[in-house]
Amino acid sequence: MFLFLNGNILKSEEVRISPFDRGFQFSDGVYEVIRYYPKKFFELESHLTRLKYSLSEMRIFIPDLSGIENSLLELIELNGIAGEESIAYIQITRGTQYPRKHSYADSTEPTFFMTVEKFPSKKNEMQNGIKAGLEEDIRWHRCDIKSTALIANVMSSRNAAEKGFTEIIYHRNGFITEGAHTNVCVITGDTVITPPLSNFILPGITRKLVLEICAESGITYFEKNISVDELKRSDEILILGTTTEITPVIEIDGEKIGNGKPGPLCKKLQQEYQKLFLSNNNR
Ligand SMILES: Cc1ncc(COP(=O)(O)O)c(C=O)c1O
Repeated sequence: MFLFLNGNILKSEEVRISPFDRGFQFSDGVYEVIRYYPKKFFELESHLTRLKYSLSEMRIFIPDLSGIENSLLELIELNGIAGEESIAYIQITRGTQYPRKHSYADSTEPTFFMTVEKFPSKKNEMQNGIKAGLEEDIRWHRCDIKSTALIANVMSSRNAAEKGFTEIIYHRNGFITEGAHTNVCVITGDTVITPPLSNFILPGITRKLVLEICAESGITYFEKNISVDELKRSDEILILGTTTEITPVIEIDGEKIGNGKPGPLCKKLQQEYQKLFLSNNNR
């Protein structure tokens, strides 16, 4: 496997990262996951804008990102997946510092790491829906930063797997925030509702695109807080994300949502979303 480290494309066995990297010791880093629908990266600029936001909020030096698309395309070619649906993973940590201490020197050189891997769409889940569970949101108050400190999400994913759920939906003070790796919206009648952007949710790129689709297709939408009760009583629930795309949730904690089947507005949004990446690829 070929990957990218600090400006070089290397074979995985050639890669050396210091054990004193602050990413390893403190999760002192940020990341992005970008979808590749042959033969283009989807919403690359939006992901890079968010990456820069995360880096600047964490006060990590922003490395030169201008060659990123070429490097990612080179990785796709070298790894022989140019014809496949794939994802890119980008991680930038604050870099190496010895001796270990919480406070950091401004002079550390960031560690800039990228990989690509095959990632086919989860067609079955998108078509038939998934089951999700609810959990109290115990994460920190800066979920707007795409930080690699994901242990709460990791624990939720384990809980979900044990209970046969595909996703956990978080609530804080009785209101929905987001999923462990997705944003959430509900549909009541003909209206799409999603929690407003805040420090408690990631400003998801799929969420942004879904709201744009609503605006362009004349679908009414609101950004407003959603109580757990409102979530359970809604006609449809959707989870949104780069890898999840638009996926219907048909059960929450064992209770059916609507008639327990993916609803019509979900299908409409999925169709419009697909048009976006198909047209992106033809540009
Ligand atoms: C916590 C969380 N919320 C939302 C999202 C969805 O964001 P995007 O649509 O930009 O992938 C993700 C994606 O990784 C996530 O981890």
